[in-house]
Amino acid sequence: MSKRQPKWLDNAVFYEIYPQSFNDTNADGIGDLQGIIEKLDYIKELGCNAIWINPCFDSPFNDAGYDVRDYKKVAPRYGTNEDLKRVFDEAHKRDMHVLLDLVPGHTSVEHPWFKESMKPEKNEYTDRFVWTDHVFMDTKGMNTLRAISDRDGCAVLNFFSSQPALNYGFYKQEEPWQQGMDDPGPEATRLAIQDVMRFWLKMGCDGFRVDMAAWCVKNDDENRTGNIYFWNKVGKFLDEEFPDAAMVSEWGNPDQSLQGGFHMDFQLMGQGTNYEDLFRCDEPYFSSRGKGNFKAYAERYNKSVAATEGKGLICIPSGNHDIDRLARRLKGNELKMAFAFLLSMPGAPFIYYGDEIGMNYVEGLISKEGGYQRTGSRTPMQWDDGLNDGFSTADPKDLYIKMDDAPDRPNVKAQMADPSSLWNEVRRLIKIRKENVALRSKAKVEFLETGYPLVLKRSCKEQAITVIINPTNEEKTVDVHGTIIYACGSAKLENGKCHVGAGTAVFIEN
Ligand code: GLC
Ligand code: CA
Repeated sequence: MSKRQPKWLDNAVFYEIYPQSFNDTNADGIGDLQGIIEKLDYIKELGCNAIWINPCFDSPFNDAGYDVRDYKKVAPRYGTNEDLKRVFDEAHKRDMHVLLDLVPGHTSVEHPWFKESMKPEKNEYTDRFVWTDHVFMDTKGMNTLRAISDRDGCAVLNFFSSQPALNYGFYKQEEPWQQGMDDPGPEATRLAIQDVMRFWLKMGCDGFRVDMAAWCVKNDDENRTGNIYFWNKVGKFLDEEFPDAAMVSEWGNPDQSLQGGFHMDFQLMGQGTNYEDLFRCDEPYFSSRGKGNFKAYAERYNKSVAATEGKGLICIPSGNHDIDRLARRLKGNELKMAFAFLLSMPGAPFIYYGDEIGMNYVEGLISKEGGYQRTGSRTPMQWDDGLNDGFSTADPKDLYIKMDDAPDRPNVKAQMADPSSLWNEVRRLIKIRKENVALRSKAKVEFLETGYPLVLKRSCKEQAITVIINPTNEEKTVDVHGTIIYACGSAKLENGKCHVGAGTAVFIEN
């Protein structure tokens, strides 16, 4: 089955916005949709032409909004549905696209569907969630809520105790209460989620980042056959009704997710994923200490490419709201080396707000709305050197999460004014990527050198570009012909040899 690929993804560079912490326009200490609208020009100036907004729907916020109470209503603290429509319209005016965060796997315990589902009498929502058929039973390692109402059963949980799992059926049915993927309950749940998607797509949204996409169908096999089957049904709905809409999965294995309805998958690195960690381990590859194993990364990446050729994009994020900030382990120039890699690889790159200025992971914060150790990656954006770094005019003690108070913390205003800043380097990198087809989403990549320096070649039928990244403290020499089209650091190309200085990235058109 060949899946349609929205054309706009060919040259898309995404910016992830955690709305709580981006820009507060009414001084209540929390970011809002109007704040996003006011910063669209900023995002565009950086070069990003697409955004992903973390959940902004009505919620009790036990998990920062990943516990949805009403899928069709903007959380009042962020604004109204009309404000969100204005985000779409204003973005479109600037040739930008907007992805919302779809949380299909679970709702909040406060969602009316769940409240109906808790009732002992059979009703329309009885099978909307995964329930066992008795309270006193062994749930075989599944986390559940039990005895929360007179319904005689346990409700299966997805993540926190406030997030009951919606029912998309079981791939392998092992108990009488486990429904099949095509049974009426699971089918009704799928239609209900498609209805939510249709609601926002009709209003102007351009697609979704899909939360915990690999875990909708339960008891799946190791290839995730059940979840792939499910997402292909949803993908078919999109193809038919919204052919330009895009979906990116939180799945962690593009080899699988791109066989389903997804156009993009996030390729996260490190523990619990299939990929060697280049950014966040003790000795990341892009540190000047010059350790780290790119070879393992490249081998795994090539495998994924072979498994997914033509089916969609493998997308590398600079970070996200669940993991450490890039700047926790990489400092100064090392961040530029990491961005040179991120922005010269295939797929659509994702930049997490604040990573473009090297915002820090803030240690020692009290957890906010289920953030726990993730809270330190979710602090308010640092715009300038004014009150609350320009994030909000509220009293600092009333901010959603307190600001980073490190004296040397970066801010946007200072970095925009400094040509040698990370911000300006990221901007130049995005610009060069957009101007050269061989650097865009779909051109091929070959890893020519996986020690130090890193040498990779991007190519398509119109163009070929060799990318050399030398994060180490020593100059390196590489045999290569062509013209330098971008350099960060010191690079000299003569007589078929490129001398690449310490901490330098260079792009050569061949
Ligand atoms: C995803 C989200 C995360 C959330 C979880 C449960 O991993 O990225 O923030 O807590 O799903 O919805
Ligand atoms: Ca606000």
